[in-house]
Amino acid sequence: MDYKDIILKRESCRSFDGRPAEKEKILRCVDAARLAPSACNGQPWHFVIALSEEAVKTVREAVQGQGMNRFCDKCNSFVVVVEESTVLTSRIGTMITRTDFKPIDIGLAVSQFVCAATEQGLSTCILGWLNEKKIKEAFAVKKSHRVRLVIAVGYAATDAVRTKRRKTIEEICTIR
Ligand SMILES: Cc1cc2nc3c(=O)[nH]c(=O)nc-3n(C[C@H](O)[C@H](O)[C@H](O)COP(=O)(O)O)c2cc1C
Repeated sequence: MDYKDIILKRESCRSFDGRPAEKEKILRCVDAARLAPSACNGQPWHFVIALSEEAVKTVREAVQGQGMNRFCDKCNSFVVVVEESTVLTSRIGTMITRTDFKPIDIGLAVSQFVCAATEQGLSTCILGWLNEKKIKEAFAVKKSHRVRLVIAVGYAATDAVRTKRRKTIEEICTIR
């Protein structure tokens, strides 16, 4: 699959078939994620791969508060994306520019993760609706670190790919 094919095929899966993603495939996704660019090469990320019955249950419950993300009942592997501290140069850059680069870095890494998953025939859904406290407690995440996202990963129940609903190039682009 070339890059454009992967981009078009990647979509948020909300209908998993129940099969967990294989650890080896998830590790290939983490490998793609770790190669992402980050401010000052700070790499402020850590990935908790939830594969055991207990870990999966914990993450599933943490993303299903207030009736959200019910489709995760059929997802049996998750990756928790933790934002850790970054390098001194990036922190200085943050002070000068007043831009926290860490969540940007996390987004870039997660983007590479989900594309690598697509390339391997896996389906994903990035989840921002989560109970951070629950996840931090369960996986002993340091107080100073943030749980930014969870990636639900597994196999889609159907091969059908939706047409993307996006703004046009004209709407999002200014040429000067
Ligand atoms: C930061 C972030 C948080 C998201 N959180 C959720 C979520 O909690 N539940 C969900 O079903 N989808 C979630 N999504 C998926 C978006 O709804 C989805 O990416 C968007 O509607 C575009 O659809 P597509 O991914 O199928 O192309 C999230 C996506 C991002 C990037």
